[in-house]
Order: sequence, then C-alpha cells, then structure tokens
Amino acid sequence: MTNVLFVAVDRDLVNRVAALDGHRVVSIDRESIPRSGRWNLSDKTFRPDLIFVGSGMTAQGALEYAKVIAGEYPEIAVALVAEPKDELIRRVTGLGIRGVVSPRISDADLVGLLDRVGRNAQAVRSDAPKDIPAPVAPTAPRATTTYPHQVIVVASPKGGVGKTTTTVSLAGLLAESAPGEVVVIDFDLQFGNVATMLNLEPSYTVTDAFVSGVDDSMRLRTLLTPHPANFYVLASSDNPAENGHVTGDQIRKLVHHYSSSFRYVIVDTSAGLMEETLSSLEEATDAVFVVTLDVATLRAARREVEVLAQLNLLPQRRHVVLNRTDRKSGLAERDVERILGLPVNAAIPASSRVALSANRGELAVKSRRRNPVRNPMKDLAGRVSDVTKHREGGLR
Ligand SMILES: Nc1ncnc2c1ncn2[C@@H]1O[C@H](COP(=O)(O)OP(=O)(O)OP(=O)(O)O)[C@@H](O)[C@H]1O
Ligand SMILES: [Mg+2]
Repeated sequence: MTNVLFVAVDRDLVNRVAALDGHRVVSIDRESIPRSGRWNLSDKTFRPDLIFVGSGMTAQGALEYAKVIAGEYPEIAVALVAEPKDELIRRVTGLGIRGVVSPRISDADLVGLLDRVGRNAQAVRSDAPKDIPAPVAPTAPRATTTYPHQVIVVASPKGGVGKTTTTVSLAGLLAESAPGEVVVIDFDLQFGNVATMLNLEPSYTVTDAFVSGVDDSMRLRTLLTPHPANFYVLASSDNPAENGHVTGDQIRKLVHHYSSSFRYVIVDTSAGLMEETLSSLEEATDAVFVVTLDVATLRAARREVEVLAQLNLLPQRRHVVLNRTDRKSGLAERDVERILGLPVNAAIPASSRVALSANRGELAVKSRRRNPVRNPMKDLAGRVSDVTKHREGGLR
C-alpha cells in the first residue's frame, strides 16, 4: 500500500492512480496549499509516501514547493508532474526530487514507480522511530479525498433480465445527486435500446464516436443526447451491422474519454461476454450483475463471474441485482446466494410499472408514489456511489 498525495495535479493522473489496486490517494488543489509549503504531515491517518506536485502551480512554484518538501521530509518521495524536458531535469537534479513524471506516463511505468516507492516506504517504516516529530502546521489544508471517476458496467449472461432497466434507473438516480455528471453508454451494439426506453431521439450514436476518432474530446461531447433527468446518453446505432469492426482498443478509449470528464459512466451491455463488455470492464471500477430468480441464469452468472475473475477483469466493486423477485419462484434469496456464490445487494420486485414506464419512455424510478422499485433501486444507487467501501462482494 502506497499513500500518494497529489498537490495541484491534473485530475486525469489522480484518477489513474486511484484506479490502481492498493494505493490510498489524497488530492489537494492549489488553494489548499499553505503559503509556507507546509502542512500537518503528522496526520497518522494519511502520511504520504509519495507526493506528486503538479502543473496546477507555475513551474517555479511547483519546483520551490517540491524542494521544500524534499528537504524537510527526506523519507517522502517527491516527483514533479511536468514535461520531462532536459532543462527541467537539470534544474531538479540535486534538490532531492525523485524525478519528473510526464502527465502521460504509461500505466506500466506508473505501477513500477508506485511499487518502488511502496517498497522503500515499507523499509523506512519498519525501522523508523515510533513517534515521528510533528512538523509545524501553520494552516491546516483542506484535504479532499479524490476517488476515481466511476465506470459502472451493467452485465449479465442472459438477455431480458433487466440490464437496461437497471442502467437507466441508476442513471436517473445518480444524476439526482450529480446532475450533469452521468453518462450512459449503450454498448449493446446490436440491439441497444437505451434511447428507446428513455424516449430519446439521438442525433448521433456510438458509430459517430468511432468514426470521429475516440480522441477528439470536443467532438465526443457533442455526440451525447441529454435526458431531462440531467444525464446524458451515448446511444447505440439503429443498424446492428454498423459496428462489427470496432476494436477493444477503441472501446476502452471511448469509455476512458468519458470517464475522465464525467463523475459516472454507466455502460449498458448485451447478454454474455462480448468484446465491448470485456473492454469496458478493463476500464471499470464497478460491475453490476443483474440476475433473475431462475437456476439457469444464476448458474450462468456464476460462470460469468468466474471467467471474469480468471481473466482478471472483475472490478474491485461488485453489486448483484436480483431483478423481478416474486414469491412464487420457489427460490429464496439464500438459494440465490448459494448458487451464485455472491451476496445479493439489491432485490427489485417485479412490477408492472416498470414495463409500463419503459413502453412510455418514462423512468419508472422517478415516480415517488406507490412505487415498489424506487427504494430498492435507490439503495443500489447509494451503494454504487458509496466509494468509501472499496472491496466488496468477494467470491465465496
Ligand atoms: N422489475 C421488473 N418488473 C417488471 N418488468 C421488468 C422489471 N425489470 C425489467 N422488466 C421488463 O423486462 C423487459 C426486459 O428488461 P430489460 O430490457 O431491462 O432487460 P435487458 O437485460 O436489458 O434485456 P436485453 O438482454 O434484451 O438487453 C423489459 O420489458 C422491462 O420493462
Ligand atoms: Mg438491454
């Protein structure tokens, strides 16, 4: 475990580190840095092993700051986030700064750096005196923990279980607390129906995104269709044949692009493990598995989860939705958990209101009156957005 503090560093790099396994990340912005360059490092709950000082400050300011920290806390590794130009590297040499890291550092290099720092920190910690003297803190910083922007992939091995219903419900509910910060990507590339279910008439679809090139961020933003409940949809194409040649790399980049600009990206998928589902899962922080009360679906879901675990594609945070519960199926939630090997986190009752709303292009969860699906869906949205719980739902 490496404790990483980001000071005035671009959100994209913060998010990339936060998405890696096993590191605690705190990010403070420029305004939070006390003028003297100090803050209360004695805080036992978070003592950084590595500090990235970023380009949110002027080059000179960043350099000064990094120098102060490197001088005062030699046990903490300090790296500057900037273009590693020769001139800058010359200037930092001898200041105790570990190095200059490009904002576009590859994931592999990032992991290598964090591992090296982590190993050193471990060694330092084990022979450090118990009580590290607390440096003076003229002003306490307003430290805010920054979590990765979440990519939530909604998946299931079977069709018709309620993936799209869950996707749009989550979008509507998450947008209640994060208006304008939610994007739904319809990666059911052949028969996607998110737009239809929401009564939207998109001008653009994922096909346009792939055609325009997944790196053009201005353009990608314009492809989104707004929903009145304050979220956006990147709709699927009407033509099932259109996206046959899309590569995993394009999928990953597209998901990554939206996740670097929005708090939540929710990906609706088609049944089974299609390329677009697997590639989205590579970017995912959360997986939502939707199942129903029948043994075949549950067994298939278990296999799906096992395969994903083998492929190393199971996100840390998993949520299981048992949809269309009813008392007549003969299966109890306990049986479901036994067959599936995962706990059920949300049980959504079968309700004619869901199908009725879908046919009208309305969001069933939005209605507050005598609505049996709103509360359990709200609990699910609460669970998904609760980023303080990072590891859950382990395989049994
Ligand atoms: N809790 C529920 N109660 C009643 N009907 C439901 C419920 N959840 C979903 N449905 C209905 O079941 C049908 C299938 O749901 P949905 O389209 O969400 O499933 P899906 O898993 O996305 O299917 P596909 O694999 O075809 O994409 C829809 O008509 C939907 O309105
Ligand atoms: Mg669907």
